[in-house]
Amino acid sequence: MLLAIESSCDETAVAIIRRTENGVELLTSLISSQIEIHREFGGVVPEVACRSHAQIIRPLVQQALDDAGVTLADITAFAATRGPGLASSLLVGLAYAKGLAAASGKPFYGVNHMEGHLLSPFLAAGQIPPHLGVIVSGGHTMLIDVQGYGDYRLIGRTIDDAAGEAFDKVGRMLELPYPGGPEIEKHARTGDPKSFAFPRAVLKDAPYNFSFSGLKTAVLYQLQKLPDPQAHLADLCASFQAAVIDPIVKKSIRAAQEKGHTTLTLSGGVACNQALQQSLTTAAHAVGFQVQLTPPALTTDNAGMIAFAGLLASENRPPDDLNIGIDPNFPLAKA
Ligand code: KG4
Ligand code: ZN
Repeated sequence: MLLAIESSCDETAVAIIRRTENGVELLTSLISSQIEIHREFGGVVPEVACRSHAQIIRPLVQQALDDAGVTLADITAFAATRGPGLASSLLVGLAYAKGLAAASGKPFYGVNHMEGHLLSPFLAAGQIPPHLGVIVSGGHTMLIDVQGYGDYRLIGRTIDDAAGEAFDKVGRMLELPYPGGPEIEKHARTGDPKSFAFPRAVLKDAPYNFSFSGLKTAVLYQLQKLPDPQAHLADLCASFQAAVIDPIVKKSIRAAQEKGHTTLTLSGGVACNQALQQSLTTAAHAVGFQVQLTPPALTTDNAGMIAFAGLLASENRPPDDLNIGIDPNFPLAKA
């Protein structure tokens, strides 16, 4: 039974997982979000985030134990996110989990946050089949060729803004509350995605890489031209959203074809976006592929995904030394 802590950004999260005969059982997965605290600043303030993690971590661990109906003595291993993420935020969760491991003499596993996202679509299955992983989050946009647990190759990534970052920045331009992603999706539902012709970046030398900063600038120029941008909010949101989704879908399908994968996954916070889910699923079905979506509770940052990656780590490699530190730029895979 493994207890995992996630604190890489503005969510403090604790989960408890165990291996069962036919998969895994997530006994509990609690998230304490700081979104309301950061909303007044329009984004995450690192100093505020780490102080808040430090305050909530102990009661949240206790609540997770109570929820799962177990005590600390029942936990046989601990895991925490080592990176990537905000250094000061990562330190709180990692130090707390290492402290529990040190005090109890149980093993500790440092987990890559992006591996948590990558594997989250398969938590219910309990194992990782070969697939093309599509990770779209606030900090990353990546296509990963996955042969199995621990065997990852980076096929494509963003060369500037991540997909979620583009949503959040454009959300701010449109004067929508933080985070922009869910707000833009909401307004896009009643808009026409063809009303504004926003650009889709073509990267000739790296066809699987992404670029969203030109799109962001195009939205800004468009806003400056409109006398009353708020009157076009739904159309702007729908057109912007389509310009983010199109390249993700096209490149994901092409990468899967090139790597011989018939299964694709969609994970990370932006994978909540139903228009993206539908687009990718439709495009995949058209070529006879399937998409494994992430359950909503495991999509934005959570400790369930860290617990699952930690459990697989405990089954596949030795524990980490307790001298291990955070790694704010922890790479997931090499090209
Ligand atoms: O994975 P995540 O929770 O945190 C990171 O590891 O970055 O992703 C957060 C990102 C934010 O940029 C947020 O705006 C975006 O996911 N997001 C969405 C939606 N829900 C969350 N983007 C588009 N549509 C959504 N429905
Ligand atoms: Zn994340």
